[in-house]
Amino acid sequence: MARYAQIVGWGCYVPERVLTNRDLEGIIDTSDDWIFSRTGIRERRIATNPRETTATMATKAAAAALRVAGVSANEVDLIICSTSSPEHQFPATACLVQDALGAEHAGAFDLSAACSGFVYALTLARSMIATGAAQNVLVIGSETLSRIVDWSDRTTCVLFGDGAGAVLLSASEEPGGILASVLGSDGSGGELLSLPAGGSRMPTTLETVTGRQHYVKMDGAAVFRFATRIMATATREVVQKAGLTLDDIDLIIPHQANARIIESSVHRQLKIPREKIFINLERYGNTSTASIPLALCEAIESGRIKKNDHLVFVSFGAGLTWAATAIKWGAPVPVSQPKWWKEAQRQGAYGAARARSTVRRLLRKYDSLAEDIRVSEIELPERFRVLGLGKRGVKKHEQNGNE
Ligand code: ACO
Repeated sequence: MARYAQIVGWGCYVPERVLTNRDLEGIIDTSDDWIFSRTGIRERRIATNPRETTATMATKAAAAALRVAGVSANEVDLIICSTSSPEHQFPATACLVQDALGAEHAGAFDLSAACSGFVYALTLARSMIATGAAQNVLVIGSETLSRIVDWSDRTTCVLFGDGAGAVLLSASEEPGGILASVLGSDGSGGELLSLPAGGSRMPTTLETVTGRQHYVKMDGAAVFRFATRIMATATREVVQKAGLTLDDIDLIIPHQANARIIESSVHRQLKIPREKIFINLERYGNTSTASIPLALCEAIESGRIKKNDHLVFVSFGAGLTWAATAIKWGAPVPVSQPKWWKEAQRQGAYGAARARSTVRRLLRKYDSLAEDIRVSEIELPERFRVLGLGKRGVKKHEQNGNE
């Protein structure tokens, strides 16, 4: 029997602090008029509390998605967190989310495809479900871009914002859900949008820090040209792949980077009427991989999506990457509110997950003290020693050679 991947839960989270274009006028040489007329952005959310991070926001969005779906964290098989502003190079942000949710049976990893990452992750999750490898997959897009943009560079810092969005994808026998996807990349354009330092090519040094190489660098005009072309092409391709026409599409949710890019690609080139294009970047700016799930949540809340609607998510980003997916919406909207006792049970499970995590950390500390003694007692097996791997083995090998 065919297995379909349906979005059955959704959730989003944005930090409280609103940073308006007018606020930015006091920080850099810019104006509300310039920013709004070039991008369509009026304000963005910024995680000013240092305790608020990509993982904490991702966890809140994911917990909301599970609540809507009525699925417990224990039933999740896989967590994919798409982000360009992870907590660390490693461990993966997804693992921190797994721990915070207490998703005891879930694999977890991060996905790096910049703003296209959320659609890449959806595509991967759909394949896992279709092959039977997973039943429930949490797909998250989360960013704290405010911590990697250069607040003295007016050509980039005005564009970005922080936030997170998540969906729960579940296996279903009901035809629909994710119908088709298109993924693409062109690495020859990698330098157009990058974070040069902090990786293996340019490890962190005093020079890279003083040279501000740990911040986003972008050739805005070149990215703009690429984006307007690729958003239209990818949308056309995915609609065709799904066996639909552009007229069949009820709502397009494009990556919320710039209202002019959306206007030029989706409205002018594809001739999609404005009322079928969802835009909310005026209030959030470009939240990179979080922008589509954030917009999806708002589209649902504002009644723009109903069962059996055909949707397209389309995105572009650093890499260069692009991605589009066509969806037949299967979940009922609005969703009934969970009973108070179910909600209390859910909150109790998160509390238990936190306690379990703390106990595990403590036990691991205790274990490592005991292990210190035992690890030093472990000897290499004979065959490694003969090969000269290990002190004693080397000696023995030398002795044998000398005999
Ligand atoms: N305030 C005031 N003036 C500014 C600002 C600012 N914030 N930024 C630039 N300017 C000035 C420039 O210095 C330039 O001045 P000059 O002519 O004296 O040199 C002038 O405004 C025009 O600059 P342009 O770069 O030509 O402006 P443009 O119309 O191209 O808009 C923008 C710039 C908004 C960055 C546009 O190119 C764009 O949106 N590009 C795409 C960016 C994008 O979407 N990136 C995200 C990719 S997705 C991801 O993976 C994160």
